[in-house]
Amino acid sequence: MPPLDAKRHPAARGDELELTIDAMGSGPDGVGHLGDYVVFVPGTLPGERVWTRITSATRKFARGELLEVLAEAPERRAPGCQHYLRCGGCQRRHQDYPAQLRDKQARLQRAVDHAAGPGVLAVQPTVPARPPHGQRHKVVVHLRNTRTNGLEPCFHRLRSPELEAITECPASDPLAWDLALETVRRLHDLPHGAWDPDFAPHGLLRSVLVRATTNGACHLVLVARQPEIPGLQELVPALQAAGATAIAVNHNPGEFSQLLGPHTERIAGPSRLPEQLGDTTYLISPTAFFQTSPQQALVLVESVLDWLRPSANDVVADLFCGGGLLTLPLARRAKLAFGVEWNALAVGDARAAAEHNGLRNATFHSGDVPTWLLRCGRDLPRPNLVALDPPRAGLDPAVVRELARLRPQRLAYVSCEPETLGRDLRLLLGAGYRLHSALSIDMFPETAHLEALACLERTG
Ligand SMILES: C[S@@+](CC[C@H](N)C(=O)[O-])C[C@H]1O[C@@H](n2cnc3c(N)ncnc32)[C@H](O)[C@@H]1O
Repeated sequence: MPPLDAKRHPAARGDELELTIDAMGSGPDGVGHLGDYVVFVPGTLPGERVWTRITSATRKFARGELLEVLAEAPERRAPGCQHYLRCGGCQRRHQDYPAQLRDKQARLQRAVDHAAGPGVLAVQPTVPARPPHGQRHKVVVHLRNTRTNGLEPCFHRLRSPELEAITECPASDPLAWDLALETVRRLHDLPHGAWDPDFAPHGLLRSVLVRATTNGACHLVLVARQPEIPGLQELVPALQAAGATAIAVNHNPGEFSQLLGPHTERIAGPSRLPEQLGDTTYLISPTAFFQTSPQQALVLVESVLDWLRPSANDVVADLFCGGGLLTLPLARRAKLAFGVEWNALAVGDARAAAEHNGLRNATFHSGDVPTWLLRCGRDLPRPNLVALDPPRAGLDPAVVRELARLRPQRLAYVSCEPETLGRDLRLLLGAGYRLHSALSIDMFPETAHLEALACLERTG
């Protein structure tokens, strides 16, 4: 280790040093310390001794790259993907699957301890994905021009908007992956390059999105700078032969960071594909939100049903309902189920699926959750059971306030961000609720993303 000099950080760019990793960070990083100074090294694990080269250093922390593992953790394994840690899609492939699951359980435990206090509630073991590979039924590859006038499929690099050319993705559903790659090959046949704001501002093609259902149907969306892709009609039979059940073009003239534009035009096949999960058929538009692993989505649905246990007398609200993943099975068992969602496309899917399933007691409101809750118990029915699945930012305090006014008996809080979950649970515990149980469902194996369900009931 270099001598600690008062005028410089404990580590500087280019330094090579030995480090003991004592914790796991939130992404792919193991965390080591030089005194109080923190060093993050991607691809390392707690308990390991590593040789690292510092790649950046600030006053508070440094980042290093892994040169050699000097002493391995027992949970280390070969990543099984040649792009790992250059591609940003996975962060935990170097850690065996049981350890990934334990790590998610521990992170949820920290969130629960933060809210309820240490030792108050032990969270349940994480529900594994079986198998942990091939779970991503939505695949998005971005297009880049090659030096030989071809196109190559890319993912974003780890922590960067830059693109990394990709040839394999074991995390993706094989059908979706093969169709995405074959589509890129077919797009070579058209005289349109990929759009690149710096080097190819007149290029037309941006990304290829595939959403595969569990029965093997695939929705293919080509994202382009213009509403039309000249010559596409001639490619349709080949794309269908490659597995595209439905084909659409999304027109996106927007920023590089933005995947989709507002308009999607159907080219072939239906505009929504059916997905059967348990006793419900969902109808999915390829550009609307739907959970990426259908298998784990069903586990989530069953866990929410187990906790809320709706019966023929219950009125249920499903806040942030997307395409009705929870609302529809809740409606099948309840007197009435309302979904609230501000994405009009998702609400259209949910309404179409309610009709398809013959669920007349499922209704959907297109709007803002806090605003809608203000009306509950006034000109709209008062729910006695509530499912909530907010985005990463968690709940607006107004939602907690309204829940305290409406006093539903049980809440099923689904979260994809343990930090905001911990914050919101604390507020809900202060608003008259008790935490009954919590568990995570591994929706995103090989990554640090955590999907959790917290079950709360009204006290008193
Ligand atoms: C994590 S997704 C959950 C969707 C659904 N429960 C599922 O599992 O498929 C969160 C949803 O909340 C919606 N949303 C975010 N903020 C909202 C708000 N203030 N009012 C209504 N919907 C909102 C998003 O459009 C998104 O569909």
